[in-house]
Parts: sequence; C-alpha cells; structure tokens
Amino acid sequence: MTCISSAFKALCLSLLFLNAVASRPTNRPKVFNVQRYGAKADGKADNTKAFTNIWKSACTRKGGNSKIYVPKGTFYLGGVQFVGPCANQIEFVIDGTLLAPSNPRDIKNDTWIQFRYINNLIISGAGTLDGQGKESWPLNDCHKNPSCPKLAMTMGFAFVNNSRINGITSLNSKMGHFNFFSVHHFNITEVTITAPGDSPNTDGLKFGFCSNINISKTHIGTGDDCIAILSGTTNMDISNVNCGPGHGISVGSLGKNKEEKDVNGLTVRDIVFNGTSDGIRIKTWESSASKILVSNFVYENIQMINVGNPINIDQKYCPHPPCEKKGQSHVQIQDLKLKNIYGTSTNKVAVNLQCSKSFPCKKVELIDINLEHKGVEGGPSTAVCENVDGSARGTMVPQHCLN
Ligand SMILES: *[C@@H]1O[C@H](CO)[C@@H](O)[C@H](O)[C@H]1NC(C)=O
Ligand SMILES: *[C@@H]1O[C@H](CO)[C@@H](O)[C@H](O)[C@H]1NC(C)=O
Ligand SMILES: *[C@@H]1O[C@H](CO)[C@@H](O)[C@H](O)[C@H]1NC(C)=O
Ligand SMILES: *[C@@H]1O[C@H](CO)[C@@H](O)[C@H](O)[C@H]1NC(C)=O
Ligand SMILES: *[C@@H]1O[C@H](CO)[C@@H](O)[C@H](O)[C@H]1NC(C)=O
Repeated sequence: MTCISSAFKALCLSLLFLNAVASRPTNRPKVFNVQRYGAKADGKADNTKAFTNIWKSACTRKGGNSKIYVPKGTFYLGGVQFVGPCANQIEFVIDGTLLAPSNPRDIKNDTWIQFRYINNLIISGAGTLDGQGKESWPLNDCHKNPSCPKLAMTMGFAFVNNSRINGITSLNSKMGHFNFFSVHHFNITEVTITAPGDSPNTDGLKFGFCSNINISKTHIGTGDDCIAILSGTTNMDISNVNCGPGHGISVGSLGKNKEEKDVNGLTVRDIVFNGTSDGIRIKTWESSASKILVSNFVYENIQMINVGNPINIDQKYCPHPPCEKKGQSHVQIQDLKLKNIYGTSTNKVAVNLQCSKSFPCKKVELIDINLEHKGVEGGPSTAVCENVDGSARGTMVPQHCLN
C-alpha cells in the first residue's frame, strides 16, 4: 500500500493497523467458566463430574489456548485427576474456593487434585484450596497403626513441564499441600500455604525427581517441612520465602531406598525462618541402601527467629527409634556453602554438622554465621562437628569446629 498525499496519511495508517490486527492469529484463550459448565457454588453439590468434563473439553480443544475459570464461591470437589497431554496451553484460574471432602475416605486416591502428563499449565488466582484436614489429623498414626486410613495430599503434579503456579492459597491439607514428582521447569510464586503447627505431615511443597524449579515470594506455615527436597531433585532456586511454623527447608530424608538418585544444585536465598523446629536441614538415614551424592548447595542471607536447630545436618536420622543400625550413612554430602546466616536458636547447639563416618562431609564453607542462643538452658550457642571437612571465615558465632 502506498500513501500518496498527506491528506490520506491517517486513513492509510489506520488501514495498515487494521490489516495487521486482522492477519495476526487470535491468542485469546477460550474461557470455560465452571459455573456456566454445570458446576455449583453452594459448597455441597459434588462438582467432580463437572470439573472432569470441563477439563476434557479444555484439554482437547485444538483451536487455541484454554482457560478454566473458577469464580468466587465455594465449590465442593471430590478427588479429581486432570490428565494430559493437552492440545494447547491451559490456564486454571481459581478465584473461588475449592472445598475438599472432610471425610478422608471420600477421596480414593493419594491426591485430591492431581495433574499429570501436561506441558504449559498455568495455575493462578486469588482463590483457596481448602483441604479440610481437621478431621484427618487425629487419624494420622501410621507408624504405630497398620490399619490407618490413607490420607490425600491436596494438589499433585506428576510428569508436568514448563508450568507455573502463582498466587493461590492452600489451607489445611490432610497430608502434604503440594507434591511434585518428575516435574521440570516449574515456577512457584506468591503462594500461601497454611496449616496449624501441630498438624501431622502437612508438608508445604515436596519434590522428588524434579529439575529446574523456582520458588519465590511464598509464605509457608505448616506442621511439617515448609519445603521438602527428595531423591533425584536438581537445580532448584528458592528465594524470598517465609517459613514458620514448621520443620524448615529440608533435604531428605535420603538413603533409605535403593532407587534413590543424587540431589544437586540447590540455592536458598533471602529466607526468614520464624519459630520453626529446624531451619537449614539435611537428613539421611544411618543405614542406607543407596550410595548417592548431595552436592553444590548454597544457603545465603537467612534469618532465624527462635529456631530450634538453625543449621542441622543429621546423617543418623531416625524419627521413630529404634532404627536398624547396619552401619554408617552412604550419602556423600559435599560443596556446601552457608553465608550470612543470623538470628536466634532456641537450642544451645545452633550449628550441628553430624556427618557420616564412612563418607565424611567435604568442602563445607561457613561465612558470617551469627546465631545466638536464646533458650531456657542459658549460656552461649555451640557447634557440633562429626566427620566434616571445610573452612570458615568472617563472623563466627558460635565458634566453628571444622578442622
Ligand atoms: C485414581 O488414580 C488412577 C491412576 O492413578 C486413575 O486411573 C483413577 O481415575 C483415579 N481415581 C479417581 C477417583 O480420581
Ligand atoms: C518433561 O521433561 C522431561 C525432561 O526434560 C522429559 O523427559 C519428558 O518427556 C517431558 N514430559 C513431557 C510431558 O513433555
Ligand atoms: C519462570 O520464571 C523465569 C523468570 O524468573 C522465566 O524466565 C521462565 O520463563 C519461567 N518459566 C515458566 C515455566 O513459567
Ligand atoms: C530461577 O531463578 C533464577 C534467579 O532468580 C533465574 O536466574 C533462573 O532463570 C530461574 N529459572 C527458572 C527455570 O525459572
Ligand atoms: C514471628 O512469629 C511471631 C509469632 O507468630 C510473630 O508475632 C512475629 O511477628 C513474627 N516475626 C516476623 C519478623 O515475622
């Protein structure tokens, strides 16, 4: 198109613009408002079937992306499985509340809301996943009762890639809140996770066989680990997380099973632990079946407020004694940097580095540690070292015990 005179310039430009808009493929997703597709927001009617059907339509749609929208209101939902692969990107926007059955027997699987075999999934919104765990917590006694009921985790991702969660709240899970298995390239931002400090096994975020995971700007307070990092997980970046109550950011437990894989490449930065039993924690079983490597970890700029065991490497993990004692842990821990870790410890031992006699910890670097004892015992904080090799520089409270 050639524009001859300036009098036609405006018209010319607008024609060009219209042309450009018309020829661009439309990217607006098709919206599936669950209320318009048969879901009821009365907190009572079971929406499992409606959600399952909506997922099928959204996932198989070929013309473009899909957006499943949960508006404000309370949607009761039984156990559901959202399975891919899907034809295109799916957004799941939750502004309302998804309400789990309060009776744990009403969820048949190990996860209340499960996503599997999906690429390009985006979960967002200002809404809440209400796991209604209160009725389940007293039933959680499996270490002493073999006929204990199976309790479901709130939301699970398995074989999910290039995806993210932003902004939602998870409340009172029955077991863990979010579980990730074989998930790669996944971002978690601005998520809130809440359960009482005495609710059993209500882990916040749990990972196994995952890679390239980013977690930031997230608040986690539960009765178990804020974040649990298990076998086969690599390249994880955790920053700006508030943790408490709970058991801290935990690697392990590791070494119990044969099929375990290395855990490498963890960065934990700008974290506040407030009132947790542990802060930085690595735990491996004393009698381990697998010989694996735990390496390349950086912990930096971490505040501890009244934390039980701020820095805790425990290679003789045994939660319910007595444990089998077949020898020392075969998990090798190495290349660990801890820098600018400060605040208060409620136990005297603020730095506990109890490594394996068979595979001593290697290259542990302590830089600017300032952890004061603030507990009933009185006296200054202390450090414990067993089978650990490394170096220390800068401020060092308690005095280090590395050789
Ligand atoms: C339970 O999980 C299996 C596979 O893991 C699946 O086939 C089944 O549909 C699930 N049942 C429910 C009720 O979600
Ligand atoms: C996800 O990524 C992993 C590792 O890159 C790959 O093996 C797997 O096939 C991918 N899964 C899907 C559903 O694309
Ligand atoms: C995760 O966030 C980073 C920026 O921090 C971005 O580059 C990347 O594309 C995001 N990945 C996904 C899968 O959303
Ligand atoms: C994770 O965050 C780091 C630093 O914030 C960034 O460099 C990296 O690209 C992010 N990775 C992913 C997979 O989003
Ligand atoms: C730590 O937790 C206590 C008790 O919940 C709370 O009062 C306090 O404001 C928290 N401190 C910080 C810095 O978040």
